[in-house]
Amino acid sequence: MKTAQARVLLTGASGGIGQAMTQALLRSGAQVLGVSRSPQESRQPGLSWVQADLTSPAGISAIAEAARVRQINVAVHAAGIPGFGRFEDLSAQQISAILQANLAMPMLLTQALLPHLAQSSKAQIIFVGSALGRIGLPGFSLYSASKAGLHGFVEALRRELADSPVRVQLLAPRSTRTAFNDAQAQAYNEATGTHSDSAETVAQALIGLIESESSERYIGWPERLAVRLNGAFPAWMDGSFKAHRRYLSSAPTPLQPGER
Ligand SMILES: NC(=O)c1ccc[n+]([C@@H]2O[C@H](COP(=O)([O-])OP(=O)(O)OC[C@H]3O[C@@H](n4cnc5c(N)ncnc54)[C@H](OP(=O)(O)O)[C@@H]3O)[C@@H](O)[C@H]2O)c1
Repeated sequence: MKTAQARVLLTGASGGIGQAMTQALLRSGAQVLGVSRSPQESRQPGLSWVQADLTSPAGISAIAEAARVRQINVAVHAAGIPGFGRFEDLSAQQISAILQANLAMPMLLTQALLPHLAQSSKAQIIFVGSALGRIGLPGFSLYSASKAGLHGFVEALRRELADSPVRVQLLAPRSTRTAFNDAQAQAYNEATGTHSDSAETVAQALIGLIESESSERYIGWPERLAVRLNGAFPAWMDGSFKAHRRYLSSAPTPLQPGER
């Protein structure tokens, strides 16, 4: 749809990518209902907020009700939490928190939004995945699992809703320069020559996805090629990650969830 016709529910609107998405959407004439756990001021025309924690059923209900009242026709799931570190160092608490935030949260919110969206003449649901949802990198086993699960969910839901007015889409950024990447993740990116984008680049890709209504968009080159190669020849790609392993074996213990 034309972005100027979009009334967008945006989770993660207070985050690095979410803030850039909010501004790009407002510039394009969309209305934005942002979600954040902390109170936000909404002084900009077209921008309003719902304060809610996506991990709680009450938070999901509050967001779905605000989305119904504002007649949203686009939902963008950009909330998420990072997970970086050697698999053997991850705690059970980290594993369940990251799977909940990056996989269960967008699934449960989608279930709550669908009764409203399915009644619209046209609606779009856009999930923010990751290049790491298709390429498993050493140090990102948990994060890759959460995003790979999300990618699988998006593909199945897209096919399930193909005859409905709801278009299901995936936006998959590569590493992006926000507070999401802590000092260790940044050092890993530098040591391994991993490319990164600005949040504005991801925001522009979102506008493109809303307008094109295409199924998915992976951001960045050579990551787009690597995603295809990894899908077709995963064992062949296994030989490409020596520098990543070297960094991990010399890295200190990872941060706990919630720490930045
Ligand atoms: N940055 C990257 O390198 C990168 C690369 C590929 C994909 N991505 C994906 O892009 C998305 C946004 O990342 P970012 O870089 O903008 O991260 P960020 O700056 O850390 O922002 C994370 C956002 O998620 C929200 N959030 C987390 N847990 C929540 C919860 N329980 N309830 C409600 N909101 C919650 C935060 O809201 P609060 O204000 O309430 O904390 C914040 O708005 C994530 O899904 C991430 O996986 C990021």
